Amino acid sequence: MFLNSDLKRRSLLSIDDFTDREMSEIIDLAIELKRRRDAGVRGDLLRRKNIALIFEKGSTRTRCAATIAARDEGGNVEYLNRNDIHIGAKESVKDTARVLGRMFDGILFRGYSQDTVRQLRDYSGVPVWNGLTDDCHPTQILADLMTMRQCFGDIRGKKLVYVGDGRNNVANSLMLGCAKAGVNYVTCTPPELCPNPDLVAHAVETASANGAEVAVMHDPAEAVRGANVLYTDVWVSMGEESKKAERMRLLSPYRVDMELAGRTGNLGGDLIFLHCLPAFHDSETDSSRDTGAMEVTDDVFESSFSKVFDEAENRMHTIKALFVSSLADE
Ligand code: CP
Ligand code: NVA
Repeated sequence: MFLNSDLKRRSLLSIDDFTDREMSEIIDLAIELKRRRDAGVRGDLLRRKNIALIFEKGSTRTRCAATIAARDEGGNVEYLNRNDIHIGAKESVKDTARVLGRMFDGILFRGYSQDTVRQLRDYSGVPVWNGLTDDCHPTQILADLMTMRQCFGDIRGKKLVYVGDGRNNVANSLMLGCAKAGVNYVTCTPPELCPNPDLVAHAVETASANGAEVAVMHDPAEAVRGANVLYTDVWVSMGEESKKAERMRLLSPYRVDMELAGRTGNLGGDLIFLHCLPAFHDSETDSSRDTGAMEVTDDVFESSFSKVFDEAENRMHTIKALFVSSLADE
């Protein structure tokens, strides 16, 4: 429904699994589904569809977004964390995939290895969506691009600057997603945290086909000039807790604060702040949440140009669009 492209039974392991056009159409569909939900419509596009949610890592947004997305349209979900099922311990990923594929219509996976989500896709026989691995976070980027569309309308030619850990899952997928959408993209990161050069080369080529540019820079004040979107993520991703001290040392000069926002030249104009969340901003960093890092200051996080909660809501609309495009009967 609402799609020109045929995305039936399609998986999403990396944002590159969709063509540029398919990615854009998924966002169109998410905007339409949001409009319907805001109008009070709860449909049955996923009626009798059962979706397994396998989570090796914690989650607030992705888990809840997938649950509400399915339930809004009459579908069912089963949440399975690594203590609930045998995956990777008593039973191989391959066997787990073949069992779940006999029962479920689709699987959303969050965990460590990209190889696990690949095996789930290859052996389950049902669509599989990557809800974050160490390498990428494609469903996040759909929500980010949707939020930019809501703020700017046409996003081609806009400039997004990601400031922080340049080689994490979000940064990897965001670079490719922006390139596919024709958004000019800069990763601003210390030399020690640069993205994989092959990935950068691929993003540069993809962006160029869409009239945009991709660059890796190291000086935040220079990188953010002319930015329409400032984006950051945690300095220590899930599974990397032992790297905290090193990341604090490397990334302290990359904190997004009001001074850096001012250096865009767009403060009070065409500038928004995005963060995939969860975030560490000063008033929220306390000893009970031992993360330490503070990638964004409170005044930016709480500012009128911060769109992080619209972005979080859009996780649900975009995941719903993925489920519907892949599983809906009509
Ligand atoms: N942005 C995101 O993926 O959030 P969760 O870790 O809460 O799912
Ligand atoms: N880079 C972060 C993203 C969380 C949504 C992590 O992997 O922990």
